[in-house]
Amino acid sequence: MSLFRITRTLPEDATGAALRADVLGGLTRSPKTLPPKWFYDARGSELFEQITELPEYYPTRAEREIIVDRAGDIAAATGARTLVELGSGSSEKTRHLIEALTGLDTYVPVDVSASALEQAGRALTEAHPGLHVHALIADFTAALALPDTPGPRLAALLGGTVGNLLPAERAAFLASVRGLLAPGDALLLGTDLVKDESVLVPAYDDAAGVTAAFNKNVLSVIDRELGADFDPGAFEHVALWDARNEWVEMRLRARTAQTVKIPALNLAVEFAAGEEMRTEVSAKFREEGVRSELSAAGLELTHWWTDAEGRFALSLSEVR
Ligand code: AVJ
Repeated sequence: MSLFRITRTLPEDATGAALRADVLGGLTRSPKTLPPKWFYDARGSELFEQITELPEYYPTRAEREIIVDRAGDIAAATGARTLVELGSGSSEKTRHLIEALTGLDTYVPVDVSASALEQAGRALTEAHPGLHVHALIADFTAALALPDTPGPRLAALLGGTVGNLLPAERAAFLASVRGLLAPGDALLLGTDLVKDESVLVPAYDDAAGVTAAFNKNVLSVIDRELGADFDPGAFEHVALWDARNEWVEMRLRARTAQTVKIPALNLAVEFAAGEEMRTEVSAKFREEGVRSELSAAGLELTHWWTDAEGRFALSLSEVR
């Protein structure tokens, strides 16, 4: 009997319908925006994996350091029998956690990418005989129905991904995660921390141009999926620190005035020369802010761990 199963909770066309709605909404408002979740097709996921290895991009290394150092503490504090990982991707950093969680019965990776879930799920099932892996193809920002698995449950959102949500989306997301948890369950949350602009901006504008290619990839996704005629070369990658909102923002700036046709939406979109379109925010956090956002969602922060250089934090919180 296989201990690996995969459940599709998204209708086959949900992704297409959501992409059309996001592109229509984002490109007909002013200023134009596109949500960051559309970066991650196969090419975008590959570029993101390359970003995590760039010298300028410290968050992945900093978070891995904390997980390796604190996995035993996390296991002792939670006694988790089910680990639910939201936006699991390649599950690379999770390995250390799974190895430390000695009482773990089931791992539930949740991701919109079926191929990432297949790969990671099969590898983990092989590496951990006896571990049940129940992968869910789902958008973790939407309402989730979790399989009935033994508690206590530990939900995890790693990588600083919570920072890609806008403040209102973040509040809704944390409240929905709280709704998945019962007393005795916990949330493990990775958050990148506020630091000097001279470190933050290069992390999103690397010398090798990998982040620029990642940012422009969203245009290729729209070209392929919606038949659009975006020329990625006609846009310039922009990364800036917004000190008021304490987030890094990525934008695409039109090099020249241009009109882009999007046949699937029956839409023609005008860009002025120099016009900038926001493609991502990546919020940076402070301990007090994380504590209060968790508290507003009904969660109490119980542990706060950072890497040795204080760049990134992992927090553990429990149902209040
Ligand atoms: C790891 C998905 C949260 O905001 O740092 C990397 C994605 N964007 N470079 C982040 C990202 C540009 C990223 N997340």
